[in-house]
Amino acid sequence: MLPDSSPFSPDQRKALDSLLAGLDALQRGWLSGFLAAGSAAPAVAAAPVSAGRLTVLYGTESGNSEELADRTVKEAKKKGFKAVMKNMAELTPKDLEKEENLLVIVSTWGEGEAPETAVTFHKAFMEEELMLDKVKFSVCALGDTSYEKFCEIGKQFDARLEKLGAKRVSGRVDCDVDYEDAYTGWFADALKEFLPEPIIAVHAGYPAPVSVEFGKKNPFFSEVSENILLNGEGSAKETIHVELSLAGSGLSYEPGDALAVQPHNCAAMVKDVINAAKLIGTEEIEVKGTGKKLLADALREDFDITALSKAVLKKLAEASGSKTLAGLLDEGAKEKLREYIEGREIIDALVDFAPEGLSAEALTGIFRKLPVRLYSIASSPLAHPDEVHLTVSAVRYEAHGRTRKGVCSTFLTDVAKTGERVPIFVQPNKNFRLPADNGTAIIMVGPGTGVAPFRSFVEHRSAEGAIGKNWLFFGDQRYTYDFLYQLEWQDFLKDGHLSKLDLAFSRDQPEKVYVQDKMLENGEELYSWLEGGAHFYVCGDASRMAADVHEALISIVKNFGAKSREEAEEYVENLKKSKRYQRDVY
Ligand SMILES: Cc1cc2nc3c(=O)[nH]c(=O)nc-3n(C[C@H](O)[C@H](O)[C@H](O)COP(=O)(O)OP(=O)(O)OC[C@H]3O[C@@H](n4cnc5c(N)ncnc54)[C@H](O)[C@@H]3O)c2cc1C
Ligand SMILES: NC(=O)c1ccc[n+]([C@@H]2O[C@H](COP(=O)([O-])OP(=O)(O)OC[C@H]3O[C@@H](n4cnc5c(N)ncnc54)[C@H](OP(=O)(O)O)[C@@H]3O)[C@@H](O)[C@H]2O)c1
Ligand SMILES: Cc1cc2nc3c(=O)[nH]c(=O)nc-3n(C[C@H](O)[C@H](O)[C@H](O)COP(=O)(O)O)c2cc1C
Repeated sequence: MLPDSSPFSPDQRKALDSLLAGLDALQRGWLSGFLAAGSAAPAVAAAPVSAGRLTVLYGTESGNSEELADRTVKEAKKKGFKAVMKNMAELTPKDLEKEENLLVIVSTWGEGEAPETAVTFHKAFMEEELMLDKVKFSVCALGDTSYEKFCEIGKQFDARLEKLGAKRVSGRVDCDVDYEDAYTGWFADALKEFLPEPIIAVHAGYPAPVSVEFGKKNPFFSEVSENILLNGEGSAKETIHVELSLAGSGLSYEPGDALAVQPHNCAAMVKDVINAAKLIGTEEIEVKGTGKKLLADALREDFDITALSKAVLKKLAEASGSKTLAGLLDEGAKEKLREYIEGREIIDALVDFAPEGLSAEALTGIFRKLPVRLYSIASSPLAHPDEVHLTVSAVRYEAHGRTRKGVCSTFLTDVAKTGERVPIFVQPNKNFRLPADNGTAIIMVGPGTGVAPFRSFVEHRSAEGAIGKNWLFFGDQRYTYDFLYQLEWQDFLKDGHLSKLDLAFSRDQPEKVYVQDKMLENGEELYSWLEGGAHFYVCGDASRMAADVHEALISIVKNFGAKSREEAEEYVENLKKSKRYQRDVY
């Protein structure tokens, strides 16, 4: 037994005694001597003192919340918690009544909606009456300040937990795309609150090995080996096929995963921003985590200098002292603010409001870190070892008298030519996976760039010699110019790796024809595939296409399964729950 004179509370002594009992005599004598004397624990691997149960509940679409939940659990375990992570996709809200200490990490998608895998949980949680008065909680909301409903779902969870009687132990944090610092602060605060009393830190024994892995914190500079325009001359679209080398990176991926690309801003926009701020570009500034850089380089490589948001305008208002801008940010002027932001970028706001004499540091203080963009991987690692392929649609449009372009898509079309190097990492997506049994049939709906993961799926099944049937619905504007990967699909049809291909070229006839029209035309067969156990996948546009395809699916189940609307909705919901209906929409 540790003596009463040791610097621990009775509870801590009890826990430490049981810990010592589990060691051999030599270790026990050595460690108890240190503890009794009040020294820091020596560098031996030792199980930590239990600080209670902790559940980290996460809701994710592209994996960030899941990754943070995983880190939270690992760190909490080191601090003595019996910590587990739970996915909203696999729980019902009632399960929360059993929790004691709850950390929620959840992102927001669409326009203020729950992430794909948490839609059902979120809806039920907002509706059901629960008894959560024994639960202590804190919420980490992931989001992006360039969206109007910033961190909306995290905010909703936070408010609802409180309404249901749970006790908030530390304040919610709303994280922008660069969430590292905000998350770390939140986690430290929340954990402190969950600990019953100060607990000894248990030394891990050896310093963690220095990671040389490529990933989010250490992107791999991948060489572009192909950059090909997929649309024919005369097309209104600009979609490219990009091949990147993974040789020597140690990076691996599975069909369904996404690739994160860290773009650079375009040189012309950097110049415009410098001019609008009346600076030169050769000013030296300090970039967090990178060191000193010339302003022009930092604006190209490190800062988001395009996405206009309320957060950016607030900082600009502070830096400029502009009364007009302050008026726009007034609580009562929400509609005016929305109108101003719509179609504009940071450059417009700088032209309108940048003050005289803004320093380079003050200018960069307005910007957030340049975020990565995700692209659904279009290749199979079996078919293309050491390569990763993407299908990218260039974002170009006119607004408020200015020609505009998307940062990353046009970085890939215009800058990332063959031989150039691009910083990348793999963003796994466990929620978009081929069936474990390769004999299971799959139905894939992927108009436009939505076809990307299905090229990966079919290549993979072909390389594996899978026996399951594969049915693809593809659509784009015109057959002649926009039939992405036409020859490959035709080859797959010929060799039997594609069982069925239905095409919807929207602009080849006076009336629009979309993928969901082709699904409805084939409703009977589609329903019989579902009844036979087929998995159903959708990828591409989230704003309209995914909702319309969802509706078409319900209507097919209703008509060909002789069901009521409610029964058909339940059928589709069950497909989702059993992971036979998966979406990768953006
Ligand atoms: C999981 C996932 C997978 C994805 N897979 C793919 C893929 O396979 N292929 C692909 O091409 N993309 C894919 N995307 C989209 C991709 O990540 C980028 O969002 C896209 O390339 C645009 O990025 P950007 O940097 O070029 O544009 P940004 O610089 O981010 O600009 C886009 C913004 O410009 C504005 N905008 C765009 N068009 C207009 C307009 N007409 N009028 C007014 N404003 C407009 C909007 O505010 C929009 O948010 C995926 C996204 C996710 C989340
Ligand atoms: N979040 C972002 O920043 C971002 C950036 C780039 C792309 N995206 C999304 O990614 C999608 C993919 O872009 P893309 O250029 O490859 O293709 P796309 O714009 O999705 O177009 C592909 C095909 O889908 C059709 N379509 C339009 N509305 C539809 C609907 N409601 N239901 C079914 N089909 C519909 C189009 O027809 P018509 O054109 O003839 O109507 C076209 O034939 C875009 O739609 C866009 O929403 C998002
Ligand atoms: C298509 C799309 C829509 C998004 N919509 C919102 C939104 O409405 N509000 C917000 O705060 N963040 C929004 N985000 C940002 C995500 O919440 C953010 O990228 C987050 O880190 C994703 O976490 P996850 O990987 O756990 O899903 C959106 C992101 C994408 C790609």
